Amino acid sequence: MTVRRVNVVILVLLVIAFLIILHRNLLNLNDFLKQENSADTVPGMVLPFEIDFLSDHKVIRTGDEIPVVITAPEERLGAAVTAMNSIYRNSKANVVFNIVTLNESVVHLRTWLSKTDMKHKIIIFDPKILTGKISNDPQKVEAVKPLNFARFFLPVFLPDTEKVIYLDDDVIVQGDIRELFDTSVKLGHAAAFSEDCDSASSKGIVRGAGNQNSYIGFLDFKKEAIKKLGMRANTCSFNPGVFVANLTEWKQQNITSQLEFWMERNAKEDLYSKTLADSITTPPMLIVFYKHHSDIDPMWHVRHLGVTGAGNRYSPQFVKAAKLLHWNGHYKPWGRASSFSDIWDKWYIPDPTGRFPPAEDSGSPEDLWHPKPPLSRQIPQSPAQEFKPGHARDSSQIQEYIIVKCWPHYAGYPFVNLPC
Ligand SMILES: *[C@@H]1O[C@H](CO)[C@@H](O)[C@H](O)[C@H]1NC(C)=O
Ligand SMILES: *[C@@H]1O[C@H](CO)[C@@H](O)[C@H](O)[C@H]1NC(C)=O
Ligand SMILES: *[C@@H]1O[C@H](CO)[C@@H](O)[C@H](O)[C@H]1NC(C)=O
Repeated sequence: MTVRRVNVVILVLLVIAFLIILHRNLLNLNDFLKQENSADTVPGMVLPFEIDFLSDHKVIRTGDEIPVVITAPEERLGAAVTAMNSIYRNSKANVVFNIVTLNESVVHLRTWLSKTDMKHKIIIFDPKILTGKISNDPQKVEAVKPLNFARFFLPVFLPDTEKVIYLDDDVIVQGDIRELFDTSVKLGHAAAFSEDCDSASSKGIVRGAGNQNSYIGFLDFKKEAIKKLGMRANTCSFNPGVFVANLTEWKQQNITSQLEFWMERNAKEDLYSKTLADSITTPPMLIVFYKHHSDIDPMWHVRHLGVTGAGNRYSPQFVKAAKLLHWNGHYKPWGRASSFSDIWDKWYIPDPTGRFPPAEDSGSPEDLWHPKPPLSRQIPQSPAQEFKPGHARDSSQIQEYIIVKCWPHYAGYPFVNLPC
């Protein structure tokens, strides 16, 4: 009799378990269907694989804005536009590009962007802000490329923004930019970077340029000012070409003034490592963010694609899986001798003025460190993502603000008070 009772109890328990599992599965299925419906059946929404075929349809971009800051020097406008296009086409997020450029490039940039539907603001950078903070030697990289320093002034460009993404122009994004934006910047940290010794893409990659994985590769530890900071020379460095910042913290910690302080100090005392090539903005950031930053997912900053031998370093599968590719180093993907340039070509939007790419990389001081620059190659002029002329655009999606003449002056940044 007890055996039979036990059997009955077991049977009842089994039936209950079965019902619970069935119920949960139905709930999951329900959630799944709900998500599918809310995310993908909004009228006009385009699935990524449909973009090539249905370029008439628009992605409806709603929700909070994701601000992305990118710089656009005249000779590299094509880089910025291509990077932006890769971000836009791989995400349904409400991305707004804040393009920092020099006054001389505004007309060219506007003409180019008028061929696209990317939501953007153009911010004019006045190199006067760097007076006294960089070397006056016109042969130095810093004098030639003032826009490199734009990343130091993010709260000036975006005074009302809290979280922001900064990207160098020599990147291609293959993932949904929202994922990068969702990187957690820990409380008390002003930014998240990718460290040089942890990431999949590091490991002694920069040839003939000292040890560029750690602080010693960027700063002159023989100088008193650096010694006094008590930083460990073998601390892992990070790459400031891709970062996510919390500008509220940035302002509270006066990050911009701190960076300016170290720029001025370097202009007088030459504190940076002699082996520094073109990563001129890295040393002050290493000092200011020493052991005081969050990390970004290594797949969101796969770098060194512009370094000699990059083509053998990464497998095509790895490169395909990367969420963000960065061609830091000498060989740029719009130039002739770069690895993986076919990936870059996919996102290129031809220059309506025909000026890009420049016939030959203009000689800049960084070339002292490298062999003769490659001639630019012929970039395919009709990639899939090209915007067809006469294509109907929803003009409400296009926003352009030009901030000219003088920069906003606001509390806490008395140094940003240029004459108008
Ligand atoms: C900016 O460029 C425009 C034309 O491109 C020129 O008319 C204007 O004077 C420039 N402004 C400054 C401050 O250089
Ligand atoms: C940014 O930093 C401020 C000040 O620490 C904090 O209150 C805020 O929650 C942070 N925001 C984000 C998005 O992490
Ligand atoms: C930042 O600067 C303001 C004004 O110059 C100053 O009052 C404040 O103490 C500074 N904060 C830090 C953390 O240095």
